[in-house]
This record gives sequence, structure tokens and C-alpha cells, in this order.
Amino acid sequence: MDRFETLLESVFVKRSETLNGLEYIKAGDTYPYPWLNDSVCIAGWGMSCTDPLRAMNQIRFVLRYALWNSEEAQRLNQEGFPGHIVFTKPGARYFPSESIWQADAMSRELPTSGITQFPFLASAVLSIWQEAVAAGLSEQAAAFLDEVYPSVKKSCEVLVRVRDPHDEGILSIFCPWEDMDNSPRHDSVLYGFDRKLSTDRYPWIVEQVPTRRQDIRDPDGAVNPHKVLQRPTHEFYVRVWTLIERMKELGYDQRAIYDEGYFNIKNVSFTAVFARSSRDLAELARLQAQRHPSQAAPYLADSATWDARFEKIRQGLNHFAWDSKHGMYHDINVTDPEHRRALPLSQALAQGNRIGRNTVGSFFTLWAGVPQGEKLERLAANLENPLTFGARFDGRGLFVPSLSMDDPDFDPENYWRGPAWVVTNWLLACGLLEAGKTDLADELFLACLVSLADGQVAEHVNPCTGLPGGNMDFPWSGAHMLWILRKRPHLRSRLPL
Ligand code: DGY
Repeated sequence: MDRFETLLESVFVKRSETLNGLEYIKAGDTYPYPWLNDSVCIAGWGMSCTDPLRAMNQIRFVLRYALWNSEEAQRLNQEGFPGHIVFTKPGARYFPSESIWQADAMSRELPTSGITQFPFLASAVLSIWQEAVAAGLSEQAAAFLDEVYPSVKKSCEVLVRVRDPHDEGILSIFCPWEDMDNSPRHDSVLYGFDRKLSTDRYPWIVEQVPTRRQDIRDPDGAVNPHKVLQRPTHEFYVRVWTLIERMKELGYDQRAIYDEGYFNIKNVSFTAVFARSSRDLAELARLQAQRHPSQAAPYLADSATWDARFEKIRQGLNHFAWDSKHGMYHDINVTDPEHRRALPLSQALAQGNRIGRNTVGSFFTLWAGVPQGEKLERLAANLENPLTFGARFDGRGLFVPSLSMDDPDFDPENYWRGPAWVVTNWLLACGLLEAGKTDLADELFLACLVSLADGQVAEHVNPCTGLPGGNMDFPWSGAHMLWILRKRPHLRSRLPL
């Protein structure tokens, strides 16, 4: 282990906890619980390349505690839905806590929040399987696959049912936290519903947000002005809390929220992650069929189903979400709570509901191998354009800001409104690598290491200065940094000693 890997290991140690023999990693100082994105990616791409058995253990934690498994979840036909936070201990400094979410009825053991996050699970399991086999742990890898395959499949099936109920090929998100929090591409919908819905219906929200928020405070309770600059506004929290109250009123019934909620966006990045998971679930099914030849038929049927799902999504994104003017994929707003029915995608588009903001979310399609030919070239050109997404300086690689630098709302310090995130740079780079754009991919991988070279494992960096921002000792970033150090070792020579 060199000094970089030692630093990364110290971050994992600092954040590690164990429950009933299963390890989980707390997401950060602002996030004192295991988050779905973080847990799955840390196991799938960080731990898997150093210790596949440890990674398997962490996936077992997610399956046992994050996936909804109660009778109520079964009644609503949403068993296997992955909750975005597992509230492992009561009383940690976090808002909104489990007492705000009140989603306890969905799970048997520990409460989760009432929404989900990027569906990386199938892809992470495939990565762990591959790493375990490469490390000579074939027996353990096979047993792991037998153990987790049914739950992973269930977690994908439920998302198709509840987030693409009309089989249009693009999945919905119901809350900005299911995607990139305060990204400006959520603004028109989040701030679009009548504020009276918040102030009249839930009068306590506006009053309580400023005092209850923990993310802008230091541990002693004092508001930290630096955090205020980097975090979402109070109004954002008012709106999100309103969405939570609304989802609670609808009993976390995903089909009701789909039609009657205040926020239903056909989201490119969430869908792209799911597209890749569909492809990878098909591959897991093929592996199972090979390993169990006498019971191959249902696995082969699964692999055909999930290959077809991938194709459906690829066509959905290319048909509905591609914007040929900008050479980018865009989200589409299908919210129509007044009529208690979400709009069909084609109608939403005809009504002009395309959300034309250029964000890093568009490039998530690379991760799934969705864009090809001209679309791929146009996306790559946008990535390299120094006026929009290609932030380069000092030979430290290419940072992809979360919002195009020519957008009037671009703010290089504020969360998802400008900063470049290690996790998104990594994800895009993996897609570029698969598309054969190796040099460009390496520029993005290198930029992921900029804070590490300075002795920090930062959540995100300012794409104009390279200075670290957000949480430090952030294990989700650390996982991808570790992957890069192991899989792209030639980049080490470009890091300062
Ligand atoms: C937060 O608390 O900011 C999280 O991103 C919610 O998932």
C-alpha cells in the first residue's frame, strides 16, 4: 500500500460500523448513516478490488436493511424497493430524520427513508463477482451470486413497475434526492408547484426548516457560513420536505405518487444507471444459467427479459430524451397532479415539458453505452468544450462540472449547481473507456485524484480552481479513487509526489 491507499483505508476505517456481523460505511459527516448510492458503489468498485469478501458483506447489509420487505411493501407490490438511507441508530445529527420520513411500515428491521437513489445494485454485484473470480475466490463468488441474485432481480423488477408503469423506457424520479439534489434541472418542477401547498397545507415546514437543518451547522450547533455557500437553500428544503409530506399522505404507494405527487420527472441519469444495471443483470442471469445447466431455463428467460429492458431504455432515451439541438440528453417533466394522472411522455413533450438544462446527468448515458455514432461524438465534444463542460488546468486532468459553465446559474462551489464530483467524473470516464475513448477517459480519471494528491478525499471539487469542497474523508469518492489507483496505475506518475 502506498501513501494514497493508506489515506483511503484510513477513511474507510473512520466511517466503518458493524451491525449483526455486517459492515456498513457511513456516508460522511453531513450524512451519518449508510446511503444507498454510497454503500453500493463503495462495495462494488472500491472494496471489491482490494477485498471482494468484505465487499460481499457490505452488499448483504444493503439487501437485508435497505430493501423494503414488510407486509405493507408486499401489499403495495413494492417489495425489494431500495430505500435511500438506512437509519441505523436513532438520534444522529441529520435532518430529515426517520421521524420526519415515517416510512417504518415498509421494512421489517430498521427504518429507511421513503425514496430511493441511483439503481447501481446489479452492476455492483457483477463487478464484485468479477473481482472475486479474478482474485481466485471462485467458490465464494458462486455462492454469493446464488445468495443475492433473487433480491437483486427483485430490486430491479420493482423499479420497472413503479417508475416506468406505462413501459415508455424512461424511469421517473419523485424527489431531487433520487438524483442530483439541487441540480438546476429540477428547479422548474420543484419550484413550480404553488407555494401555498407548502405554507397552507403544512404550515410548520417554512418555520422549522432553518432551525432543524443540520447540514449547514458544525457539531457544536453553530451555523457555518462556508457550508451555507456550498449547500442547498432553505427554500429547497421547504420544497423537499413538502414532497416528503405529500408522499407520506399517499402512504408511500409509488403508483399513487407517480400520478398524484407534485414531482414526477423522467430522469436521464437515474434511467441510464438502470440501463446499465439491466444489462448487467442479464449478464448475471447468463452466469447463473451456465453454472446451473440443469435449471438454466428460468435464468435464460431472465437474461432475455433484461437484455430487452436494456434495449427498451436505450430506445426510450434516444427517442424521447435526446435533444439534437444541444447534442445532449434532457429530462422531461410528466407531473400533472391536478388531473391525478401523470402525463404520457409523448404528450409531455408535445406540451413543451422538456427540461432543457445542460448538466452532467446527460453524460450518464455513457456509463450505460447508450449513445453511439454521432450522439457519442457530440456528447464527447460537449465534454471537451472549455466553455461548457471541459474544465482543465495545470495538467491535472479534465473536470466535468455538474452544470454547464455557460449556464447563468453555474456556481462552482454549490453542491450540484457547478462543482465537479469525483463519483460522476469516474462514472463518465468508465463509459468513455468502454467506448474506446481511452485518452479522454484518463483525463477524467486523473481529475478524480486531484484532492487525493493534496491529502484530501473530497466529496467534490471546484472545477475552476481544483480546490476541494463538501465533505472531506468522503468514502464514496474514496472508493472510486481506489479503483483508479488499482485499474489505471499509469496515472500515478502524473500525481505530485
Ligand atoms: C442530503 O442530505 O443532502 C442528501 O443528499 C440527501 O440524500
